[in-house]
Amino acid sequence: MGTLKGRDLLSLADLSRTEVQQILDWAIAMKAGDLNPRFTDRIPTLGLLFYKASTRTRVSFSTAMYQLGGQVLDLNISVTQIGRGEPVEDTARVLDRYLDALAIRTFDQSEIETYARYAKMPIVNALTDLEHPCQVLADLQTVQETFGQCEGLTFTYVGDGNNMAHSILMGCALMGMNVRIAAPIGYQPDETIVAKAKTIAGNNSEVIVTADYKAAVEGAQIVYTDVWASMGQEGEADERSPIFMPYQVNENLMSLADKEAIVLHCLPAHRGEEISAGVMEGNQSRIWDQAENRMHAQKALLAGLFGLV
Ligand code: CP
Ligand code: NVA
Repeated sequence: MGTLKGRDLLSLADLSRTEVQQILDWAIAMKAGDLNPRFTDRIPTLGLLFYKASTRTRVSFSTAMYQLGGQVLDLNISVTQIGRGEPVEDTARVLDRYLDALAIRTFDQSEIETYARYAKMPIVNALTDLEHPCQVLADLQTVQETFGQCEGLTFTYVGDGNNMAHSILMGCALMGMNVRIAAPIGYQPDETIVAKAKTIAGNNSEVIVTADYKAAVEGAQIVYTDVWASMGQEGEADERSPIFMPYQVNENLMSLADKEAIVLHCLPAHRGEEISAGVMEGNQSRIWDQAENRMHAQKALLAGLFGLV
C-alpha cells in the first residue's frame, strides 16, 4: 500500500516527488491497460462539490471513479443547502458521514482547507483560485509520455499568473524541471507560491518569473498557456485583453521554442486570444492527449487515496 491512502490533496506541494512520480507511473500503466485496480468488497462514493462550471474535471473524475468500480454523486451549490448559507463546517461533517472522498471546486483555498479540517475523508482540490493540482498531474503525465521523463526539461507558461501558473510552479519544481512563468507586470504569480517553488527546486532546477515572454520561451520543451480571465474574473476580460495580447502563444512565439517542443493548454481555450487557432490545431499540440490524461491521472490518484495500489 502506498503513502497516499486516506490523504487530502489540497495543493500539489502536499505531495513528494516520489508520490507524484508514482501517480504518473500508475496513470501511464492504467492507460496502457497494464494496471487495473478495482474496488472489491464495497462500492465507495466520490462526491463532486462544484461551486464553478466544469466539463473535464467533472466528467474525468466521474469516469475514473466508475472505471475503478466506485460511484459518484454530482453535487453543486444550487442543489444543496450550501447555496442557502449552511456553514462549510456543518456541510463538511455531514457529507463525511455519507461519502468516502470529496472533490471540491471553489474560489478560496481556505474553503477547501476548512472542508479538510472538518471531514476525515480525503478532500481533493478540483480547482481553486489559488491552485489546480489535478490538472498538473495530467500535464506532467503528458510530458512524461512525450519525453520519457520530466527531469531536466524546461517548462514555460505564458499568460496570467493564475491558479494554473501556481500549480505548474510547484509541480515542475517537484519534478526537477526548469520552470519559467512569463506574465505581464501586475499579473505575475503570487510571491509566496514562487518562493515555495524555489525552495522545492533548491539547486536542482531553475524557477524564473519574468515579463519577457520571448526569453522565457527560448529553447523550452513545453509551452503552456491558459485563459487571460479565469472563472470569477469575466468582468476584467476587456481590460486584460490588450495587456495580454503580446503574450499570445502563436506561430511566431513557438518559433523560439525547442524544435521538439510541445504545446499544452488546460482548456477551455479562446482561439485568437491566449492561443492562435493554428498552434492549437498544429502538430506540436498535445492538448487532446492532455485532456484525456485528466481521467488517467485522477484514476491513479483515486486508486492511491483509496489504497487500491
Ligand atoms: N481544465 C479543466 O479543469 O477543465 P474544466 O473547467 O472543464 O473542468
Ligand atoms: N485559470 C482557469 C482554469 C480553468 C481550468 C480558471 O480558473 O478559470
